[in-house]
Amino acid sequence: MRLVDTLNSSLQNRAIPDYLNASALRRIHSFVRREGRMTGAQQRALMECWEPFGVEAGAVLLEPKILFGRCAPLVLEIGFGNGESLAVMAAAHPEWDYLGIEVHRPGIGHLLLRAMELQLTNLRILCADAVEALERQLPDECLDRMQIFFPDPWPKVRHHKRRLIQAKRIALLVRKIKPYGQLHVATDCEDYACAMLSLFNTTPELANTAAGGGFAPRPTWRPLTKFEQRGQRLGHVIRDLLFIRRDLALPLAE
Ligand SMILES: C[S@@+](CC[C@H](N)C(=O)[O-])C[C@H]1O[C@@H](n2cnc3c(N)ncnc32)[C@H](O)[C@@H]1O
Repeated sequence: MRLVDTLNSSLQNRAIPDYLNASALRRIHSFVRREGRMTGAQQRALMECWEPFGVEAGAVLLEPKILFGRCAPLVLEIGFGNGESLAVMAAAHPEWDYLGIEVHRPGIGHLLLRAMELQLTNLRILCADAVEALERQLPDECLDRMQIFFPDPWPKVRHHKRRLIQAKRIALLVRKIKPYGQLHVATDCEDYACAMLSLFNTTPELANTAAGGGFAPRPTWRPLTKFEQRGQRLGHVIRDLLFIRRDLALPLAE
């Protein structure tokens, strides 16, 4: 349900749901809701193909086993854009389940079309602010991998507070990943890449898979994304950060 619909219905009922508290409404978002141009096909997909793939946003805790009707490793992609790379990954790994979260409706329409074309049964889509979804809908330690490819860079210093990945949010991101699950981020924004590397390297729950605590080599299995192609055209260096969530109940291996 859209925030405005939720507000309208709660005003009619004269009750404000707990999760629409003042701090949620004041939140500085990591995205700007620009609908852009939506094709007729994307619009139709949103109306007609939402049913097998769409997950209801709100305050209901999601149970992956029920969502996918089976027990399988679960990957979450935050901010999938047009969803091309997510569709390719889901098609290549039918034995894994994929949940994508995005706020950009034309991108969701695009992914629905691809999901229908590829007859994907292991993909679910949530149209929501990922921060709210992590806080309210995703159980802790449910993810085998969290992937965030080319998060909005917000390059101006005064906009850094909008970045999705930042110190105040690292605990929320990490606690959704199972012990030994992966956190995989890619970016073409050097300043953001360095800030994330330093943040992840100093987060005790995370272990860097890259030699010397640096950036990881680009995994061959990560499909090229639309924003990565844009970064390449602009001559940007692409950085991958690949970390494993440690099990802090066990002694750390040196
Ligand atoms: C720069 S684009 C990258 C898209 C895609 N991953 C790619 O590489 O082509 C970042 C995407 O993240 C989405 N996004 C940013 N913050 C988000 C949030 N809090 N929740 C859901 N989606 C978000 C934006 O709508 C946008 O589509």
